[in-house]
Amino acid sequence: MTSNTVPYDVEAVRADFPILQQEHHAGVPLIYLDNAASSQKPRQVIDAIDDYYRRYNANVHRGIHKLSEAATAAYEEARIKVKRFINAANKREVIYVRGTTEGINLVAQTWGRANLTVGDVVVLTQMEHHSNIVPWQMLAAEKGFTIQYVPVLPDGTLDMDAYAALLRDHPVKLVGVMHVSNVLGTVNPVQDMARMAHDAGALILVDGAQAVPHLPVDVQALDADFYTFSGHKMLAPTGSGILYGKRDLLEAMPPWMGGGDMISRVTLTGSTWNELPYKFEAGTPSVAEGIGLGAAVDYLNSLGMDNIHAYEQAITGYALERLAEVPGVTVYGPEAANKGAVAAFTLAGIHAHDVAQVLDSAGIAVRAGHHCAMPLHECLSLQATARASFYLYNTYAEVDALIDGLYTVKRTFAGA
Ligand SMILES: Cc1ncc(COP(=O)(O)O)c(C=O)c1O
Repeated sequence: MTSNTVPYDVEAVRADFPILQQEHHAGVPLIYLDNAASSQKPRQVIDAIDDYYRRYNANVHRGIHKLSEAATAAYEEARIKVKRFINAANKREVIYVRGTTEGINLVAQTWGRANLTVGDVVVLTQMEHHSNIVPWQMLAAEKGFTIQYVPVLPDGTLDMDAYAALLRDHPVKLVGVMHVSNVLGTVNPVQDMARMAHDAGALILVDGAQAVPHLPVDVQALDADFYTFSGHKMLAPTGSGILYGKRDLLEAMPPWMGGGDMISRVTLTGSTWNELPYKFEAGTPSVAEGIGLGAAVDYLNSLGMDNIHAYEQAITGYALERLAEVPGVTVYGPEAANKGAVAAFTLAGIHAHDVAQVLDSAGIAVRAGHHCAMPLHECLSLQATARASFYLYNTYAEVDALIDGLYTVKRTFAGA
């Protein structure tokens, strides 16, 4: 694909996003390149939430009245949309959570707490987001198992030989890996990693936060035991997210939070648990957010995940080419062909925060810092990077504006 061919009408897509129509500063349009942190929302998602609150706001699963039935139907319909979107075998395997962080904590606190003990090993990778490190460290401190990390090679990919050796040499019970890195953009070979984990008798948990918004994901083809992602990075509201788990594993796991909806019977001396997925969904859920997630899935399907992925790869490839033209810029991670829609970079002699600050005054929103991946930055001997991350509505002209902005940054700090 060249910069002139696109698989859908990007301008028509942009028109769906109210926030993209506004000025960032007076006379300066918004160029939003912080999509790995959170995506913007189309009016179709905003309208779905608005419609729920205006027309049929009620609690779900409990009411006999018409409003509650309508809310329950929409909320459960959204679950089925997600089930199809990730090709889960059964809607009972699709658990609503607040996001990726909650999904991982749920697995740690239920499966992990019940199954991990002294002598066991959990394998993570050096590129994980904090949300796939800290829950395991917290549990390890309590349970006494150890954590080993797959190293990251200089080209930004995982050291698969080291991974094989870890599985061979240690009693590994669980592998936790991100599908796509939020810093390097590396698309990890999770299907191979799952096969290798299973051959070694381990389960695999995949952090799909940066994958599900951007590429077609089929949890059955990957053979992931657990797969989790956040709605807010895929056009849906904050507070929406999914934990997928294989049914037999979920059936065997104890619940996490206790309360309404997750029980089948409560007496003063004990309780029994509801069937899946409700066993893991205690309390009044985020109904509007779930309905919004369903609308986001509809929107993504209307463009086609293959098209979105192809467009993002093309625009990321273009961004990498243009970034390479700027003297002093170093981009981290693999080539565009094996990369998600992110470009984390440094500009020689200028702190990432200063880069982001000057870009912001030009209307360009990027992220700067460690992007919740401090261990990875330490491995790369970096304190901070600036990160431009793209989504289905970004344009080639916006990439050009980023490059112009970087020259402005250089001029601003010249001789400083
Ligand atoms: C790869 C990855 N994992 C996990 C998370 C955490 O997601 P959330 O904050 O939505 O729970 C993020 C968010 O930045 C991420 O990029």
